[in-house]
Amino acid sequence: MAATDTALWGGRFSEQLSSLSARFSNSLSSDLTFVQDDIQGSIAHATMLGECGVISKEEARLIVVALGEIAHEITANGAPPEIECEDVHSLVEMMLVRKVGDVGKKLHTARSRNDQVALDERLYLKRTVSALRIAIEDAIRAIVSKAESSIGILMPGYTHLQHAQPVLLAHHILAYVSMFDRDVERLTDALSRSDVSPLGSAAFSGTSWPIDREAVAQHLGFSGITENSIDSVSDRDHVIEVISDCAIIMMHLSRFAEECVLWSSSEFNFVRFPDTLTTGSSIMPQKRNPDMAELIRGKTGIVYGALMNILTTMKALPLAYNRDMQTDKQPLFDALGTTTDCVKMATELIDGAVFNADAMRAQLAAGFLTATELADYLAAKGVPFRTAHEITGLVVAHCERSGHQLHEVPLKTLQTFSTVIEADVFDALDPVRSIERKRSTGSTSTIEVQTQIALWKARYSQIPS
Ligand code: ARG
Repeated sequence: MAATDTALWGGRFSEQLSSLSARFSNSLSSDLTFVQDDIQGSIAHATMLGECGVISKEEARLIVVALGEIAHEITANGAPPEIECEDVHSLVEMMLVRKVGDVGKKLHTARSRNDQVALDERLYLKRTVSALRIAIEDAIRAIVSKAESSIGILMPGYTHLQHAQPVLLAHHILAYVSMFDRDVERLTDALSRSDVSPLGSAAFSGTSWPIDREAVAQHLGFSGITENSIDSVSDRDHVIEVISDCAIIMMHLSRFAEECVLWSSSEFNFVRFPDTLTTGSSIMPQKRNPDMAELIRGKTGIVYGALMNILTTMKALPLAYNRDMQTDKQPLFDALGTTTDCVKMATELIDGAVFNADAMRAQLAAGFLTATELADYLAAKGVPFRTAHEITGLVVAHCERSGHQLHEVPLKTLQTFSTVIEADVFDALDPVRSIERKRSTGSTSTIEVQTQIALWKARYSQIPS
């Protein structure tokens, strides 16, 4: 007697898998995510087998019609619980054979589950990575529109989390647009490498059947086919690339989230998020906690973990397919699902953010934000910049002792530090003028920030979401 009528390799075996082995190796619950991709792959494969004369046109037609029905049945009712199978590939084949009998058993000609799973993952990536990319584009549009509506708001810019120089709030938040724009580019790049069909590689060495790999690729909307059949079934670079892109996106989001947490604290009080995005405390009635931002920051760990997971799984695997590779599904789903959710959550935070222009402006008075301006002023009057820096340092030390801000020091006192100082020094010390003087490309003056806004609007406004 054959090992089991549920396994795909019964002939060679005389005993069934132990129940633990069967459960241990079963991947149906995760592969089901790909079921529609798997069926589309089978439809393309069967059509090609018919076109190439490997099976008859009528057999191909029967298989294709039945696969279409199976796709609908699974959408409506899920996988039939009475079918015991190891993975989604066997599930579809068993459902097919149940419908059309022996002709269904011809579907697997010139094909292996190794190239099937590689195909399914690529089709899945093409769908889901596009959805993530659209979510990031939405986040970009949300930031650009916030930047536009808050163009007049000034804030202290930071380095080392210390007051550094005055900037426009719009300039600060547009930095995230530059990050997300690179994320979009990276995903587009990863998608281009996912966009090749591995089908026709069979187990790993190719097939002697007269198949047409290009026709299958075209049918499935791929822009090409993989070059090497061994690589086709042993490669998971596309999965790793997408997860590492997700890890970079989460790193960006975690920086954004950290600023949401800091800025909404009483110490900063730069931003308030609406009740719909804020939680209270069960014991402290006054609390408004930024849990959504904290969770974005926290979920970064899930995605970094997924990256380590897949890299470790693939490390040192000999060619070609190894069963270890089946474990790539969970990190892929975790990374893509978590990242897409977090990007959407961040977009709601951006949309809902209400900035406190007065609190930001009040901070401009502290921390000697225009010290660099004073050094530049002296340098513009001929003092070498290094000396100008030193003189400014002495003025700041004086202010610290006397309890003044730079613009509060009388002209006469300032002149004791350098004879080149004249009444126009107060222009240099004014934060608004300091911002507007920054005219180098990409800098913080209103006009430069408006140029950046126009650039992003042109790049992203036309994309339908
Ligand atoms: N379930 C496997 C995976 O996800 C695909 C099937 C290949 N199995 C095999 N024994 N060659 O990687």
